[in-house]
Amino acid sequence: MEVDNTNEAKYDRKAELQAFDETKAGVKGLVDAGITKVPRIFVQPSKIEDSTIHSDKKFSFPVVDLDGIKEDPIKRKKIVQEVGHASETWGFFQVINHGIPTHVLEEMKDGVIRFFEEDTELKKQWYSRDVSKEFKYNSNFDLFGAPVTNWRDTFSATIAPIPPKPEELPSVCRDILLEYTNRVMELGATLFELLSEAIGLEPNHLKDLGCTEGLLALGHYYPACPQPEITPGTSKHADNDFLTVLLQDDIGGLQVRHQNHWVDVPPVPGALVVNIGDMLQLISNDKFNSVEHRVLANKVGPRVSMACFFTTSFLPTQRMYGPISELISEHNPPKYRETTIKEYSTYFNNKGLDGTSALLHFRL
Ligand code: OGA
Ligand code: NI
Repeated sequence: MEVDNTNEAKYDRKAELQAFDETKAGVKGLVDAGITKVPRIFVQPSKIEDSTIHSDKKFSFPVVDLDGIKEDPIKRKKIVQEVGHASETWGFFQVINHGIPTHVLEEMKDGVIRFFEEDTELKKQWYSRDVSKEFKYNSNFDLFGAPVTNWRDTFSATIAPIPPKPEELPSVCRDILLEYTNRVMELGATLFELLSEAIGLEPNHLKDLGCTEGLLALGHYYPACPQPEITPGTSKHADNDFLTVLLQDDIGGLQVRHQNHWVDVPPVPGALVVNIGDMLQLISNDKFNSVEHRVLANKVGPRVSMACFFTTSFLPTQRMYGPISELISEHNPPKYRETTIKEYSTYFNNKGLDGTSALLHFRL
């Protein structure tokens, strides 16, 4: 009997997730096997929200040109304003002239493709759900907790504060991963200066709070999907870090929630997407917004992206984060309780991408 994968009838979801996980071949493994319908673990129970507005129609997605930022104080002032405005209103912007050469961006995307397109038997040795691993790959970090499985495989590498041992990284993307993330850390230092200034603080304020210390690099691989109308690429979520720097290819599918619409983040050659994460919303006491976003699955693929998260994630650090005292006043009382990055990350990961904001749990 043919399975109707759009039927919400009860099934042993747990067993099917387990079986999928045990293949260690991810979503790509299903596509390689030639499936023409998505297995029901990937079917979104409710209809995927529509109301997509193509950004060129109604909104223009913010683009910030970082050219001249070091030499020209007048340009810098303007850039600080643009970064501040975008962080308050969109929580997202793209940067151009960010200093990372195009060939490095291209090679990074190729590195992600090389990893996922390596022989499955070789790739399986990296398959793991152990959060303490320096490098691992799996499909859906929240596989057993989330309401719907995403059409995506991901590798993750902890880059900072403790750099990975090169021999613990896969040789097909080792060099570029180290070079690219090094450059992203440099860019991050600049972005946190701009963000500090945009909140009205000294340029080093966010760096001194430790925002630039940790980096987690995720390489995403979204295979071509036979039924993108019923399957999410990445379910809607906000990021759990301070800041994310995202490199996407030219396929598209990333959308941001803005004024009650899903707005496309248009692929711009050579640009990087920057977005505010929950932890920066928390310490800025809601001045900056960590905005919901999602990735649509696509008949065309694979799509690859590389998301670098400024966070020490599960590292046991002592530092407590709450709304920055300089921002707090009688008229702007703290909106969040203090937490550690590890506590926040653990709460976020256990909750999974269930469509709600993890920040609510920390709100006073
Ligand atoms: C993420 C994310 C978007 C993308 O990793 O949190 O939102 O385009 N990625 O892959
Ligand atoms: Ni995200």
